[in-house]
Amino acid sequence: MNDNPYFHKLSNHLIDEETRSILVSQALAKSDEFFAYKGQRTGNEDGNYIFVRGFLREVEGVQRLMRACTVECYPLIMKQHSNLKGPIHVDNPNGRNCVIITPLIPEKDFVSTNFYTSFEDTVPVTSVDYSDGLPALINTQRLHNLNNNDNLRMNFQLCFENSFEEIRNLLLENKLFVF
Ligand SMILES: [Fe+2]
Repeated sequence: MNDNPYFHKLSNHLIDEETRSILVSQALAKSDEFFAYKGQRTGNEDGNYIFVRGFLREVEGVQRLMRACTVECYPLIMKQHSNLKGPIHVDNPNGRNCVIITPLIPEKDFVSTNFYTSFEDTVPVTSVDYSDGLPALINTQRLHNLNNNDNLRMNFQLCFENSFEEIRNLLLENKLFVF
């Protein structure tokens, strides 16, 4: 499991239930402040909409997490519209060589992040299961996409300049967050 080059599930929550519900209600209220993210290496849109400013850094649970983090990171909220069929892509690193995704909504049936070995693949090589609600560290430098269901999908992300392997090792050593 620890040599999975695509993702690494965390064994604990990073934000509490109160923080989660504040993020959801604020993000829904600021729906028009999200913008289409040109997140692909090609500079094309990747089907994601992001929110990076405003209330986000003022939420106490987010501040606590940022203070606890031992490497540089930044927070954002990302959403995907219902029934999005996201293109297979690699992220333009842009400070996000890897990200920790915390599912926000929907609480049930939050669809997987899928990983592929080539653009021509029709079946993922592996997928992240979020059904336990726990966060996952995602390697954005591997080919990935998602195929959303009928729900608006929204997640909270911590984004890292460090490589996936570096952040995974810090997580495994319990050194990424010091609360
Ligand atoms: Fe991506």
